Amino acid sequence: MQTKEDLKQKVCLALDVDSSRQALELVKLMRDHVGMFKIGSHLFTKVGPKIIEDVRKLGGEVFLDLKYHDIPNTVANAVRMATRMGVYLVNIHASGGLDMMYAAVMAATSEAKDKQIRKPILLAVTVLTSLTNRILSEELRIKHDVLSQVVHLAELAKSAGVDGCVASPKEIVAIREACGSDFVILTPGIRPTWAAEKDDQKRITTPAKAVKAGADYIVIGRPLIKAASPTEAARKIIEELIQDSE
Ligand code: C5P
Repeated sequence: MQTKEDLKQKVCLALDVDSSRQALELVKLMRDHVGMFKIGSHLFTKVGPKIIEDVRKLGGEVFLDLKYHDIPNTVANAVRMATRMGVYLVNIHASGGLDMMYAAVMAATSEAKDKQIRKPILLAVTVLTSLTNRILSEELRIKHDVLSQVVHLAELAKSAGVDGCVASPKEIVAIREACGSDFVILTPGIRPTWAAEKDDQKRITTPAKAVKAGADYIVIGRPLIKAASPTEAARKIIEELIQDSE
């Protein structure tokens, strides 16, 4: 059985705000209620890498969600820097190919070894949840549907030594089946049943259903940030996870 602490570690709060001040206020408020904080291109582009250090100084673990997708050497150097900054999770695009993913794995591993620091968990983005079968076939000329492309890219990431992937809640079961129990799966698109708004998320599921389907981490932004009491909303989510794991 998973403890309350285990379940709390699964919840990652997306720091999708415009300033360091807002982000750090959220970290102070939520650090005892969630396991990790996600810094994405929105906040990172505005305030830069110092925010990683600042969140860590407050005791928060960081998921650096910059979805690197470039030539292998460039991605390897970016992953090396992320490793040096002590992020807990970092991601790359699986569609950058095997060499790119392998270079990222090697960079994280060797940097951690050289500097005697922990290696971040490296995740691959498979197919963005904003893409559809139509976009895949007509615009990108990919001949497979979203689900089979997702599973293929997850398997490719695994073969490169990548630790896991980012997936929509709908894809968790198929990825888990194809890639096994050790492959880390992180999923956004999470909406508690009591959340008033779906916002722009379409393929959503509840925190408890995502964890039950096999997600190791769930990313939640607006349902927590915009709640009247973010701490109370987080408490309710963990409570639901506990009930469902019993
Ligand atoms: O506010 P909300 O809970 O929808 O936030 C979800 C977070 O996860 C956002 O930062 C969003 O960019 C990110 N994300 C997502 N879907 C993906 C990948 C990342 O919603 N496929």
